[in-house]
Amino acid sequence: MPDTLTIIDNRTGKRYELPIEHGTIRASELRAIKTDSDDFGLMTYDPALMNTAACKSRITYIDGDKGILRYRGYPIEQLAEASSFIETAYLILHGELPSASQLAGFTQTIEAQRMPPPGLEQLFRGFPNEPYAMGVLAASFASLSTFYPESRRIFEDWNRTLQMHRVLGHAPTLAAYAYRHRRHQPTVPPSPSLGYVPNFLAMLFAEPGKPYTPHPVLSRALDILFVLHADHEQNCSTFAMRAVGSSHADLFTVMAGAVSALSGPLHGGANEAVLRMLAEIGHVNHVPEFIKRVKAGEGRLMGFGHRVYKSYDPRAKIIKRTADEVFEVTGKNPLLEIAMELERIALQDDYFVKRRLYPNVDFYSGLIYQAMGFPTDMFPVLFAIPRVAGWLAQWEESLLDPDTKITRPRQVYIGSDQRDYVPMAKRS
Ligand code: CMC
Repeated sequence: MPDTLTIIDNRTGKRYELPIEHGTIRASELRAIKTDSDDFGLMTYDPALMNTAACKSRITYIDGDKGILRYRGYPIEQLAEASSFIETAYLILHGELPSASQLAGFTQTIEAQRMPPPGLEQLFRGFPNEPYAMGVLAASFASLSTFYPESRRIFEDWNRTLQMHRVLGHAPTLAAYAYRHRRHQPTVPPSPSLGYVPNFLAMLFAEPGKPYTPHPVLSRALDILFVLHADHEQNCSTFAMRAVGSSHADLFTVMAGAVSALSGPLHGGANEAVLRMLAEIGHVNHVPEFIKRVKAGEGRLMGFGHRVYKSYDPRAKIIKRTADEVFEVTGKNPLLEIAMELERIALQDDYFVKRRLYPNVDFYSGLIYQAMGFPTDMFPVLFAIPRVAGWLAQWEESLLDPDTKITRPRQVYIGSDQRDYVPMAKRS
């Protein structure tokens, strides 16, 4: 059977053969389908790009029906069990698991980039009281382009790699700065003796000058959460990374775009929204009434549903297990009972079953973050730090892909036809 699609345009009776590759047709091929020579040609209308592959990628594979997620071919379950975030970041960026010496070299390189440029901290002093943490993170990434002007030379390989290492190394420090400034606490410099995640916890929670040893179970739990969040193929913020990057802006400016996209409650801000929702519900007895309101269209069950997963999000399964381990150390989060009752009712309710709405990555992660002592507005930041690995890999893949051009979709214009300007005095 030929890998082609035959289209008959009933407006003209003409017949077209379009090649099919990787289960797609090239949208630009449709342009040949015209009614006459003045016709622009056929386009597809796909708001939110729900059925459009905008790139070819070798990084992350998802099968939303089967609940499969793999980075570079490796199942998320295996990576969460056996890998660390820093090793997973290497895998995502380089395409292969590192050897022991490659991992040691990579770890050292990232550790050497933990300290943002002197002077950046002044920016944090300029924010109003209690600034929104994701706003601070986006602003601090954007400002780095002024400290590292050479980052504009994105096609210089060594330079691009250096900036990518800077982003990975700086990300936890910027997040910790945001956290400490908000609390009017002095910042804690990175500690050379601690790994990526323990050092992050120390920069957040240590008292300056005093040794800090994070609880190993909590540190490992955060490491697992970081592995789970490291990439998720063409989600909203990754698409922002690729789209903004397609204009050849510098990496730090592009990063600010991705962080901003992640901050919304439909994306990385959902973990924060889940906690607010659970607190609002307040008691397990109020769950049926809340579900009724969701079904009546009065708000969403946050942490449920996904554009791609139409079965249980594999990350949510792992997070649920991790939550049990964390709660053994911290004590149970009182909101857990409400979350479990929401899940129990939703998974057997026709509304959710019919629409294939299951818990996603954000449903239980916030409960863990809260039990570990993070304030709610830091939750999306905890999503952003590991997602940096995926953003960087996707950005570089896109830059080096000969198919990439500046992102510039078409529109269907449905506004006014040409009309003449009306002077103010003559307007009714
Ligand atoms: N609660 C109640 N109803 C929902 C929900 C929900 N959480 N999600 C989807 N629906 C309904 C929606 O109302 C619609 O119903 P109908 O067909 O009657 O109009 C149907 O399900 C399809 O929804 P949709 O909005 O067309 O689906 P989408 O693919 O555009 O949205 C989503 C995906 C994640 C934005 C959405 O499910 C949602 O808003 N979920 C809550 C927010 C959330 O948890 N976001 C985190 C996503 S996972 C982390 C990440 O990758 O960022």
